[in-house]
Amino acid sequence: MKRSLSIEFSRVTEAAALAAFAWLGRGNKNAADDAAVKAMRLILNQMEIRGEVVIGEGEIDEAPMLYIGEKIGLSRPEDEEITIAVDPIDGTRMTALGQANALSVLAAGGKETFLKAPDMYMEKMVVGNEAKGMIDLNLSLEQNLRRVASKKGKLLSQLTMAILDKPRHGKIIAEMQQLGVRVIAIPDGDVAAAVQCCLPEAELDMLYGIGGAPEGIVAAAAVRALGGDMQAKLIPRNQVKGNTLENFAFAEKEISRCEALNVPINAVLKLEDLVRDDNLVFSATGITTGDLLNGIKRKGNLATTETLLIRGRSRTIRKIQSSHYLDRKDADLYRLMNI
Ligand code: FBP
Repeated sequence: MKRSLSIEFSRVTEAAALAAFAWLGRGNKNAADDAAVKAMRLILNQMEIRGEVVIGEGEIDEAPMLYIGEKIGLSRPEDEEITIAVDPIDGTRMTALGQANALSVLAAGGKETFLKAPDMYMEKMVVGNEAKGMIDLNLSLEQNLRRVASKKGKLLSQLTMAILDKPRHGKIIAEMQQLGVRVIAIPDGDVAAAVQCCLPEAELDMLYGIGGAPEGIVAAAAVRALGGDMQAKLIPRNQVKGNTLENFAFAEKEISRCEALNVPINAVLKLEDLVRDDNLVFSATGITTGDLLNGIKRKGNLATTETLLIRGRSRTIRKIQSSHYLDRKDADLYRLMNI
């Protein structure tokens, strides 16, 4: 991917974050998501790419925009073919409730870069570069933590693990605390935590737990670009949420979707299966302040954003602080940034 093109993707997550921010603390996560999706799509469609959404808002029949398979960009013959994995808001609930740690995020790559996974649950384990090669989802979590600890020359009690604070993880959280591991239970937003494990200044030793598969693929792009490690398994909904008739019906659809895409369920996917090459860029803009990024500050028509932009080939990590005069944006974008 052209270097100049990579930088352009920061504008995409900036626009989505600014649109989401208009809905901050208004208790309407669907409206926030809708605004972020529209803003993201607007900027992507101005880019000189022949783009295709491979991880998006859902299948064509359930999402009107940024659906899987949607063609995006100016799409002229001379433009580069790019695939895009988007998560316009990771933390819709946090945005609606005005809570910390919400991001707008995407990863872009070449034609075959990303695994085409359906929107379902995914078990994920992420570590940074120092523990690369030490994780194996076929082993227990405790065994993995012990391997990571020994590679890093630490005691279990010196390890910090992040996990989504969901009922399905209650037992694991208690068990790991019992072992002496410091457990950071985050309400939502496992993309930021995955990235945090892999940054050079990382304080997190591991992210573990079951979250969304789309978020897993977007996170895997950052993990790969930063030289970290990740393993994952796609898990049918009934195994995560319980064996109700509704969850079985969901699971059936997920299984047939996986069959169509030729991706295995309940089997270990390695980082190279999730993201197949380094020809990628990862961009995340903070909506609300979190451990990874500062959130948006806005006074009237002046807003500031902070964006993390990582290029896979060079492993360059940029933090971009931008000031935006919103009334100078094009009219469609301006409307999305003001409700
Ligand atoms: P959304 O903002 O898209 O809802 O995602 C938030 C999130 O916490 C993700 O970070 C995580 O992967 C997923 O939801 C977990 O799903 P669930 O809330 O169903 O447990």
